[in-house]
Amino acid sequence: MSRARISIDRDFTISEVPHRLFGSFVEHMGRCVYTGIYEPGHAQADEQGFRKDVLALTKELGATVIRYPGGNFVSGYNWEDGIGPVANRPRRLDGAWHTLETNAFGLHEFVDWSRKAGTEIMEAINLGTRGVNAAREIVEYANHPGGTYLSDLRAKNGHKDPFDIKLWCLGNEMDGPWQIGHKTAQEYGRLAQEAGKAMRLVDPTIELVACGSSSSAMPTFGEWEQTVLTHAYDEVDYVSLHAYYQEHDGDANSFLASAVDMDYFIESVVATADAVRAKGKHKKKINLSFDEWNVWYQSGLDTEDQPHRVNNSGWREHPRVIEDKYNVTDAVVVGTLLNSLLRHGDRVKIANQAQLVNVIAPILAEPNGPAWRQSIFYPFSLMAELAKGKILRTEVDSDKVDTAKFGDADLVDVSVTWDEDNGRMALFFANRGLEEAADVEVALRGFDAKSIIRAEVLEAPEGSDRFTKNTLAQQDQIGMTPLSGVKATGDELRLTLPALSWSVVVLEVGKN
Ligand code: AHR
Repeated sequence: MSRARISIDRDFTISEVPHRLFGSFVEHMGRCVYTGIYEPGHAQADEQGFRKDVLALTKELGATVIRYPGGNFVSGYNWEDGIGPVANRPRRLDGAWHTLETNAFGLHEFVDWSRKAGTEIMEAINLGTRGVNAAREIVEYANHPGGTYLSDLRAKNGHKDPFDIKLWCLGNEMDGPWQIGHKTAQEYGRLAQEAGKAMRLVDPTIELVACGSSSSAMPTFGEWEQTVLTHAYDEVDYVSLHAYYQEHDGDANSFLASAVDMDYFIESVVATADAVRAKGKHKKKINLSFDEWNVWYQSGLDTEDQPHRVNNSGWREHPRVIEDKYNVTDAVVVGTLLNSLLRHGDRVKIANQAQLVNVIAPILAEPNGPAWRQSIFYPFSLMAELAKGKILRTEVDSDKVDTAKFGDADLVDVSVTWDEDNGRMALFFANRGLEEAADVEVALRGFDAKSIIRAEVLEAPEGSDRFTKNTLAQQDQIGMTPLSGVKATGDELRLTLPALSWSVVVLEVGKN
């Protein structure tokens, strides 16, 4: 049995839980849009062709804000192709994913779908093949009330009232050589500044996200953020981060410590943004938008069950690509990545798990078939539901695991929130120990624990192993089960976390 002692204090808070921390991502990629959220003719399709089963799971997931329409896709996309009568929309080659794009689904459909899902829109613009003019025109089309060519065109296309989209991404992964229209930091920084300026001249209320690095392993990481922010500081509100993790060669310990890299990435970008702030004598702070993150098996066998790669054999409509099937280990890692985001909630104000459905996603949906929850659905949906109020600082004294990639990592990982309004505290724990349970003691300074409202765990079901997944044939193998043996009295909480598990405990607390 390993052990961990955690201390929290009522007065030691990080920030309010940012509402946009539980975001997701819908890209025109593989089957995320077509046969994911949109499948006319499906038994569950509504009058607009939106799958009601996927909409219901999106609501249950608790996603608050959804980035759209890409991703790499957006860097070759003309937003005008997706408006107007569907029959007149052009069929195009999407070079990013080697796919035939019909444009049957576009901006109006996404706005309607988002309203049904109850999610905010985070719209990405194309700064790969396009520039300042297309950037300001989409803002006018979407947000201007009326009386101009573009705003009247929106009305003619069915939406008299403005879409009122607040959050805009200035391109996608422009640091990546794979990106259509890839740029140097100088080129992109200037373009982001000028596009952002032109967009704000149309609608000064919008918020803008500049592209940061595609991962902390990019050779330009650090230098990129510094140069881009030096050019665009005045126009942008956020800088983006993207990170994907996977288990390499059976090294589960390093994989389980992925959040150590996420912590490092976040803290490095904060330091860089603040250095540019100091040098430029700027007043405002740039916050962080972690607008793509997840587990993604980018290297691995390309099989029918786990199609990883983009198939370049012909231009097909919505082929199956990167439909990763997630297991117990992946869910524990996702829980720790969410913990990292929450612990940095003072600066990470937006985060989007990539993606929502079918493409590296918490939801899987078969064409003409059912939709179900993957293992990674559970930590996300429970944290989106229960992480409310203030984020509390956690002082952790835990036994360690020695990892090849990230050095020593705490065996027990945690984040805690406290909602003063309803007197509830939520604690989210991961036990990274592959074999050993963990004995955990939490000192609740300044609190008086009155009762345990909820205590649940995600672990490998009895008789199975850490590779167990939910599948089409067995959709409910992995889920939450009751966590027994939790004790909370006065200012102390004690519990035992099973080996390789993710748990949530909700307490009713008073002040002490
Ligand atoms: O989410 C899948 C892809 O990963 C996105 O299109 C791209 O931005 C990133 O490299």
